[in-house]
Amino acid sequence: MAIAPDELLSLDDFERHALEVLPAMPRDYYRSGAWAETTLRENRAAWDRLRLWYRVMRDVSQRTSRAEVMGREAAMPVCVAPTALQCMAHPDGELATARASARARVPMILSSLSSTSIEDVRAAATSVDPAARTWMQIYIGRDRGAVRALAQRAQAAGCDALVLTVDTPVWGIRERDIRNHFRVPDGMRIVHLERPGGPTGHAGRGIHEALAWTIDAGLTWDDVAWLRASTSLPVILKGICRADDARRGVEAGAAGILVSNHGGRQLDGAPATIEALPHCVEAVAGRVPVLVDGGVRRGIDVIRARALGAQAVCIGRPVLWGLACAGEPGVDRVLAILRQELDVAMALAGYASVGEITADLLGP
Ligand code: FNR
Ligand code: LAC
Repeated sequence: MAIAPDELLSLDDFERHALEVLPAMPRDYYRSGAWAETTLRENRAAWDRLRLWYRVMRDVSQRTSRAEVMGREAAMPVCVAPTALQCMAHPDGELATARASARARVPMILSSLSSTSIEDVRAAATSVDPAARTWMQIYIGRDRGAVRALAQRAQAAGCDALVLTVDTPVWGIRERDIRNHFRVPDGMRIVHLERPGGPTGHAGRGIHEALAWTIDAGLTWDDVAWLRASTSLPVILKGICRADDARRGVEAGAAGILVSNHGGRQLDGAPATIEALPHCVEAVAGRVPVLVDGGVRRGIDVIRARALGAQAVCIGRPVLWGLACAGEPGVDRVLAILRQELDVAMALAGYASVGEITADLLGP
């Protein structure tokens, strides 16, 4: 059932339609959270509790949503979060996401569990915009040599940052996936991590069985220094929710802190990321940028995040819904909707530029 992307008006429209058109296994893998999915729901609900105390009569006739994101300007303070196996949503998968992100002039973070290689993703991104930005997400598995090789490969391919995911010593349990016997589908590959004769992810029941080999429960802060030494790229830490961990991350040399609970897929019961954000912002105290993801679905969420001190937000599932609904034009449309909503939200709240947004937006 093909749908014209223009018929979908919001990121929630994309979600509803994608849930109708996707087969059960990818649908449930993409949508699911861990255990009772409390954190997944809370990630969304907590944004909606923040009221916007808008200002009037501010001359917002000349506006821009451009903003600095990790040291360079982006068209808006939004990045595409890493999500695994995008070819399950659409055959063009990560290539479509790369081209759409480049067109929208926002950084894309490529999952190390992608179904497409970093070299092909970079070629797709730079075919649209030679200055396109790609960050490589890293899981540290037990084979440290393979991790280092992937980090170096990412640098050689033109990535401008590594994003080390730190909330995943083991995989969270997603019950929908167990029911569906989720595993890497036939014909698809975890291209960066497979080794001849090694595991492939094609067997198991849920990623905690199928992909256990991709991560290492022995991870410690020393691994941050180790990864930093593997390339000259800045390392952003993804998956932090506490002030003390944010502080520790900065001390370990992180170039940025991404406040995230993995879209509610790891420790169910974790706080909504928007609740965790102010604590982390205070602890980091401006030393490095703080980003946030989890439940961002509206332009008003972007201004809420900025008001709480985030430099930018990332969106995960909405990009998968865009792919599932309409492939590359679907991702174009998801990013365009967010940009338009941000622009209108800024005008209505009394801001001509992203830099003007301050904490008093959330309360007088
Ligand atoms: C993810 N996420 C994720 N994170 C990561 O560091 N590496 C990965 O490979 C993946 N894969 C992945 C797959 C799927 C299907 C989902 C839904 C999520 C987490 C992701 O980067 C991000 O933190 C959340 O998705 C953000 O929440 P929203 O925007 O999906 O609510
Ligand atoms: C997930 C992994 C791949 O959340 O990060 O499914």
